[in-house]
Amino acid sequence: MFPHDTRRQRLAETMRAHGGGVAIAFTAPEVARNRDSEYPYRWDSYFYYLTGFPEPEAAMVLVADGATTESILFCREKNEEREIWDGFRFGPEAARERFGFDRSLPFGSLDEELPKLLADRPALWYALGADEALDARVHRWLGAVRAQARAGVVAPAQAFDLRAVLDEMRLFKDEHEIATMRRAAQISSAAHVRAMRATRPGCHEYEIEAELLHEFRRNGSQFPAYGSIVAGGRNACVLHYRGNDARLADGELLLIDAGCELDGYASDITRTYPVNGRFTGPQRRLYEIVLDAQRAAIDATRAGARFIDPHDAAVRVLAQGMIDCGLVAGSLDGVIESGAYKRFYMHRTGHWLGMDVHDCGDYREPGAPVPAAAGPGAPAAATAGAPAADTGKPWRVLAPGMVLTVEPGLYVRAASDVPAEFHDIGIRIEDDALVTSSGCEILTVDAPKRVDDIEALMRG
Ligand code: GLY
Ligand code: MN
Ligand code: MN
Repeated sequence: MFPHDTRRQRLAETMRAHGGGVAIAFTAPEVARNRDSEYPYRWDSYFYYLTGFPEPEAAMVLVADGATTESILFCREKNEEREIWDGFRFGPEAARERFGFDRSLPFGSLDEELPKLLADRPALWYALGADEALDARVHRWLGAVRAQARAGVVAPAQAFDLRAVLDEMRLFKDEHEIATMRRAAQISSAAHVRAMRATRPGCHEYEIEAELLHEFRRNGSQFPAYGSIVAGGRNACVLHYRGNDARLADGELLLIDAGCELDGYASDITRTYPVNGRFTGPQRRLYEIVLDAQRAAIDATRAGARFIDPHDAAVRVLAQGMIDCGLVAGSLDGVIESGAYKRFYMHRTGHWLGMDVHDCGDYREPGAPVPAAAGPGAPAAATAGAPAADTGKPWRVLAPGMVLTVEPGLYVRAASDVPAEFHDIGIRIEDDALVTSSGCEILTVDAPKRVDDIEALMRG
């Protein structure tokens, strides 16, 4: 059985536990960049999670009714002319067989088929609010069902947010996902090693970016999982630096936050190292604080701990380091309570990782699926960059199968009240952790991060 098939069965079980109904998931549209040129196509993560089907113009319908489940794929028909220009299309029949669906139909028949499929079903499971045009289309289908009321046909009385169910499923990676994420993490680790080997004073950030992309692509990764950050010197203090065009100077650090996407799964690694291969005293001092903070956070990443525990552990080490280095003044508890440390550490220590680099999944303890009328969407995911609003719900308890990043940092912008030796040093160290029953497995372990290991690698 395909892993996607198993996931559809699990979704159907959840739907059935709430009375059953019809789930609809669309894939992403192709997006024009300019005339005759499109952005590289990337399917919708929810759709792909349930189907493994890579083509645009496709939708999945799952009917969970009584004890039976029917999975239907709507996809493009074979078309010789379009295939000459744009490449192979499965077509419904081959797609049904290859991707394990019960039935497949042409994408062009959606408007005709969906009112039939929605008739006399108790509920609709759909990502309401994600796309206005698709919402309107679904409303038209529901309208078409309601129009048959005199004939005794009943439209779904309830709508559930499909994302809430899938977010929860996606939070726990299955074996297929873990194997893919392990490989993605290995490729990205090799890319960071390649970058370290290639770095020399005088070369440009984009030359190092090219090394990363080379290693991603030559190992079969389809895309970077996000825009690579290759930030020399003070550029490392810009959290979402995108320029990647500066010349790297002797004596600076280089911060690289880059990870590949492999078969739909992200990896996310940051390493910071000296352009010339040798840390200066002050660079090393701050680096060791971040490394100690990461170690403390990794120790706190285990089943039974709460999502926020690694962050709290990292903050304690970072704040103490800031006090020791004269960056902030006061007691450890005082610096943490007042938030004074946030001047130099302003983001969260991790985020869920999976198909999306900032993956879906509740950062707080979940409730039951919410009828869409009562809650228009799954709560926005917190990110390492933007802490979630405090909902008052307890933080999520970590459990085996969850994958999250561990990424403390220190960013010291030049200022008159900051010791000059630390000016313009930005450091982040980021690894990807799979929660296990006994602790966590670091998937990105092949990218060196100890000072001695980095210096030895760059000497060689
Ligand atoms: N690369 C995005 C992040 O670290 O969250
Ligand atoms: Mn990250
Ligand atoms: Mn990152």
